[in-house]
Formats: sequence, C-alpha cells, structure tokens
Amino acid sequence: NGSSAAQPVIGQDSVEVLGHTYPRDDVTNITPKILAKVGRNLHNQSHHPLWLIKERIKDHFYGAYTGRGNPLFSVHDNLSPVVTTEQNFDSLLIPADHPSRKRGDNYFLNRTTMLRAHTSAHQRELVRSGLDRFLLAGDVYRRDEIDATHYPVFHQMEGVRLFTNHELFSRVENGEDLSLFEAGGRRTAQKQQCHTLEAVKLVEHNLKSTLTRLVTSLFGKDLEVRWVDCYFPFTHPSFEMEVRFRGDWLEVLGCGVMEQELVNSAGAGNKLGWAFGLGLERLAMVLYSIPDIRLFWSQDPRFLQQFVLSDIHQPVSFQPLSKYPALHNDISFWLPEDERGREAGRESGRERYTENDFYELVRSIGGDLVEKVTLVDSFSHPNRTCEGRRHRARAGNQTPRGARPRSAVSHSPSRYGDIPLKQDVRVS
Ligand code: FA5
Ligand code: MG
Repeated sequence: NGSSAAQPVIGQDSVEVLGHTYPRDDVTNITPKILAKVGRNLHNQSHHPLWLIKERIKDHFYGAYTGRGNPLFSVHDNLSPVVTTEQNFDSLLIPADHPSRKRGDNYFLNRTTMLRAHTSAHQRELVRSGLDRFLLAGDVYRRDEIDATHYPVFHQMEGVRLFTNHELFSRVENGEDLSLFEAGGRRTAQKQQCHTLEAVKLVEHNLKSTLTRLVTSLFGKDLEVRWVDCYFPFTHPSFEMEVRFRGDWLEVLGCGVMEQELVNSAGAGNKLGWAFGLGLERLAMVLYSIPDIRLFWSQDPRFLQQFVLSDIHQPVSFQPLSKYPALHNDISFWLPEDERGREAGRESGRERYTENDFYELVRSIGGDLVEKVTLVDSFSHPNRTCEGRRHRARAGNQTPRGARPRSAVSHSPSRYGDIPLKQDVRVS
C-alpha cells in the first residue's frame, strides 16, 4: 500500500528514505518529487497493470520451467531501491569513467548511495546468495528524457540463469566431452576470452528462445520482434529486443551472456550464464494499449478499474480517458406538444416520446465522449394548460419550484396522469 510508505524527507544535512537517514554531500541531487515515488511499489499493488504484467511473466516462467513440481526460478520483488554506487556500477564492471555514472543521469542520495538505475544492481548479491535462476522486479530511477515512453521512475524485471557444464551439455550428443571454459582463447565479437564458442552459442540460443517464448506467450505470434546487437559492460555478447509498437520499433529489453568476471566475483566460477533486464512499462504499454507512460502513476479509478480482472490472462485494451475531469451537462427540455399526450400520439399514429429517443440524439452529437445519461427528474403538471412552463427549467436533484415529483403527480386527478411534460437530464 503506497499511501502508508513513510514520508520521505530532504533535510539540510541529510535525506531520509524508507526509514533510513543518509548524510548529504556535494553529489546529492535527489528531488522531493522523485522521493515521493519511493515506496509506491506499483509492481506490488494488486491489479495495477505493472503488477498484472509481472504476474503474467512469473506465471510464464513457472509454467515453462517447473521441474518436479517446484518452480525453478525464484522471484524477488521487495529489494530496497536504495543501493550503493558499488552495487549499481562497480559490481557490474562499469568503468569509473563510464557515461552511465554521470551525476546528470542518476539520482544520488550522496556520493556512495543512490536510487538504483537498473535491477542489474542486485545481480551479484543474488548470485552470491546461491541462486542460479531468479527473477527480480523493482522500481528504478534515472534522469532521462521525458516523452510518452520515458519516465524518470520506471520498473524493470531482471532474469538470470546460470548453467553448470552438465546442465548445458547433458542433452548434446557426446556432451560430456564439451566444456564451458577454455584456456588461451580470444575475446571476439562472438564470445568472451575464457568461454568456449559452443558453450556461448548454446547459452545465447537458450537466452533468445526463452525471451522469444516469453513475448509470444504475452502477445501471441503476430507481434513483430527483432534482435539488435548492442553493448553492456556486464554482458558479452549483448543484445536488445525491439517490438513493433504504433508503427515504430520500441526497445523492450537488454540481455546477454554474463561477463565471467562478474559470475566469478559472485562465487559461481564453475557456471556460465545469461541475464536480461526488461522494462515492465514498455511491455504493459504494448500489451494493454496504454499510450502514455505517465498513466501508470494515475490514481484515477477510471484508469485502475480497467485492470481489475478475475484472471490475469484476461485481455485488456485500455480505453483512453480524458486528461480533464468528467464534465456534467444538465439539460431540461419540454416534450413537443404532439408527442406529449396519448391522444396526440394516437391521432398522429406516432409513438410517444421514449428515453431512447433522447439517448439516440445525444449519441449522434456527443459520440463516445458521452459516458452516461441519467434522468434526474421528470415533471408533469396536473393541469393540461401547463402552467409549469412558467417555471424556469432547472436540472439537478431538486424539483423545480412549483413542480411536483412524478410519483406525486401520478396520484393527481388529472386526466393526463403521469405523462411527463418536462425532462431534466444529466449528460456526463
Ligand atoms: C539496462 O538497464 C540493463 N541493466 C539491462 C540488462 C540486464 C542488460 C541484464 C543485460 C543483462 P537499458 O538501459 O537498455 O538496460 O534498460 C532496459 C530496459 O528498460 C529498456 O529496454 C526499456 O524497456 C526500459 N527503459 C529504459 N529506460 C527507460 C525509461 N526512461 N522509461 C521507461 N523504460 C525504460
Ligand atoms: Mg537500452
């Protein structure tokens, strides 16, 4: 529950986040607006679209990798976004002068502490704790451009899988003769120095087919997908996956074969692995047709209600809502003379006025902008001469002065009974 998160405080000498106090220094650049987002944990808020897509991904991995009834991937979604710069950069072999370390690109609490810029910041600690298959979801923070697909706070899902020699080669013919590592190899565009080409090719194939199966399970076979070679200091070779979205290619994840130096430093030197990091907002935007990344922060029930599903697999196509609050128009009108009375209706052979006539008129003018039409009041004057017309037409729940509510009128002795003369209607 985001609202119960401790109020973040930026003081003169210190910054308080999630109940901890961090001394400020010349590098501190965190802002109150960003701090207010820490602890919201949208990815852990039931039925939020980011929670939904996280659950879909977990479900896919559980289903695809269940061995002897146990999920092989563990899921971690509650690690604090406050990390050391050592975790965020050094543990991932990011060089001291790498552009991603820039003060202008990150939110620092101080020189040594920051809001994580990616979930990769936890790779080493989780591998070190003995895990070799895990998923990790969390909020990440970056000073980045602002447009429909970028926001300074977003959410990532990290995945890591390590293989032993046996796991990788056991299904390959004469696999026991192959090995993960070789001495005296060379680093090329295809592989790291210490890896054998056959090991890397198998891991790369496993990585790409795992991720292709994931997006196919989310989007079906029709989604256009392409792989782009790229660079990360902590993987080699490295790739990005892009998908077709609103006529453009949208990058949804980065991945690659983990740098062995990282795996070794986490105490898993006998294994070789892959890692990926995907943007949960980007996938949710494609899956649920959400046009703007800012919508994820909306607390408007008109947004959130659309994702309250009984089954996480139920399809949702987001219905855009206005940036502006709902507008109500109260309209009162007199029914035309010849449609008012039963006799008139009979004489002309026409049906009486029905509410659907009005709905039809509203739809023809307001189209889909109109959400709701409700009858607020309907006025019938007991006297056929219709003095009621002298009263100013007013809408709302009050009955116009001098008029009587319909139920009262129906007891009136008038020969017109409860035939309405005037309609008060609210169009929203
Ligand atoms: C990374 O963050 C790497 N840590 C990913 C990785 C993990 C590579 C493990 C290799 C191994 P990148 O900066 O490209 O990479 O971000 C990953 C994804 O996060 C992007 O593909 C995109 O889907 C999403 N993303 C990045 N910046 C933003 C942003 N400002 N707003 C929303 N989503 C973003
Ligand atoms: Mg990228």
